[in-house]
Amino acid sequence: MSDKKTVAVADHYNAVVEDYHLNYDDEAHKTLPHYPANYFRLNILKREVAKLGAQSIYEAGLGEGTPLAHMAHMGLRVAGSDIAKNMVAAAKANFERRGLDPDVIQLGNIDEPESFVNQLEAGLFDAMMASGVLPHVRDDQSALRNMRSIVRPGGTVFIEFRNKLFSMFTLNRFTKEFFLDELLKDVPDLLRDAVADELDQRMATDLPPIRDVTEDGDGPGYDLIQANYHNPFELTELFEKVGYSGMKIHWYHFHPAPPMLETSIGPAFRKAAMEMEYDQSWRGMFLCSAGVVQAVRS
Ligand SMILES: C[S@@+](CC[C@H](N)C(=O)[O-])C[C@H]1O[C@@H](n2cnc3c(N)ncnc32)[C@H](O)[C@@H]1O
Repeated sequence: MSDKKTVAVADHYNAVVEDYHLNYDDEAHKTLPHYPANYFRLNILKREVAKLGAQSIYEAGLGEGTPLAHMAHMGLRVAGSDIAKNMVAAAKANFERRGLDPDVIQLGNIDEPESFVNQLEAGLFDAMMASGVLPHVRDDQSALRNMRSIVRPGGTVFIEFRNKLFSMFTLNRFTKEFFLDELLKDVPDLLRDAVADELDQRMATDLPPIRDVTEDGDGPGYDLIQANYHNPFELTELFEKVGYSGMKIHWYHFHPAPPMLETSIGPAFRKAAMEMEYDQSWRGMFLCSAGVVQAVRS
């Protein structure tokens, strides 16, 4: 994979805005070309926000606004921002179509608090959600601090992350990278080289193909932007360091087999995956490519 992440995060998201709402459609999500992971994530967020009894929620990186609109329809005071101008325009139009106030949405970058601090003037929020944002931030600790500043003391954040441990299940180039760069990072090169050779023979280390264009071929693909994975074993320490407590992880985007088998298995793959969603056992740590950290501002 190219290490050069030269494409701006906003350029990728500006290019995928048009069909993004289909991820959340009760019918359309079933027949999307990609797995409708966002649909399951939104259901988890709605369930957990309702459990908390939160009265207000902010979304950093609100995309085209459907998740935040769902929260508004649940009766919460809402506001949000996004770094991609096409997403902001789509979210405002989405809110208008639904009879919601588009002025609660603006351009903003979670890495730059001055870009959204005006939205906190009416009071800090009971909850904050950020999906598809932590993978792209410049610095984890600073972004998590900025997210923390949005909620009141005792307020709750829901922050999506991409699961690095899923690499143990994919049996491809991600597995090789995880072995060499993480598990064996301090082992002498002689051994690492031997392991690399062995994995090249036993695993599909040439897969998956690099996504250098979007699904419709119109814009820069996901693998051209900076997109970090997080190790769930390290998240508690990271969150506690910047002033959160009470962390739990909600797993989603299950895989009933390594992803490279999806084509040969056919529709049974996706059906089985969807049936596994909402399982909260330890299996999510390996079978899910993403999770949502729920944490309290201490
Ligand atoms: C995967 S999309 C998800 C959108 C929305 N949160 C949802 O759940 O449908 C991620 C969004 O985060 C935005 N984003 C990425 N980095 C950001 C940053 N540093 N500040 C604000 N928004 C960001 C992207 O432009 C994109 O719209």
